[in-house]
Amino acid sequence: MAADETTSETGEFWIFGYGSLIWKPPPHYDQRVPGWVTGYVRRFWQASQDHRGTPEAPGRVVTLIERSFWASLADAHDSAPDKVWGTAYRIRADRVAEVKAYLDIREINGYTIHHAPFHRADGRSPPTIRTLVYIGTPDNDQFTGPQDPQALAEHIYASEGPSGLNRDYLLGLERALDELSPESGDAHVTDLSDRVRAIESRGRREGGPAAEGFERHPASHEFRKVGSVDEQEETEKA
Ligand code: BEZ
Repeated sequence: MAADETTSETGEFWIFGYGSLIWKPPPHYDQRVPGWVTGYVRRFWQASQDHRGTPEAPGRVVTLIERSFWASLADAHDSAPDKVWGTAYRIRADRVAEVKAYLDIREINGYTIHHAPFHRADGRSPPTIRTLVYIGTPDNDQFTGPQDPQALAEHIYASEGPSGLNRDYLLGLERALDELSPESGDAHVTDLSDRVRAIESRGRREGGPAAEGFERHPASHEFRKVGSVDEQEETEKA
């Protein structure tokens, strides 16, 4: 990642997170701003071999699909919000090299670096910020394309990788989106979460073990800021 592609004149850079970065921030950020990008659709159409699945049994994580391309596909979730909500983080100038090195290490499993104008929701200036964003484009090997929602929910329910259960990622994303703003929910994410909760309660009724984290949560708007690599859980792809 060349410095001149992403950094501003003052040396800092901004990264937009629409997946796990929303609740697992990168190290050394000094601003966290909720907001959105447009022109994309968020979908659980990226296979994860390294975080929420394994090479033998990949899980599913989110990527962004260009809206015009998505519109040409047959998706059972046939509508999507105009705004893809997420969080932008500003990395201060004296930490840029360190954080870029850290993020570059993580640029694997099909994601590549893109840039998108981010619209901040906090009313501060500037209203639009150029952000770096990781996207698994349709030409990458991990891109799955459209998925049947029930089959996708069953797949997420059954998957697990080094970063934990795939369903915790899904439910964590639903919760993080709910906490961003009253309008930041994503029906694709909520529908999959509802299906996963139904699978879980069906399992419980049939005598399976109760799993944690399956109650619908109240949005709290609380966020714990983490300042260093050591203090935080590892940032994971998507
Ligand atoms: C994210 O936006 O959270 C993200 C997306 C792809 C790769 C890494 C993080």
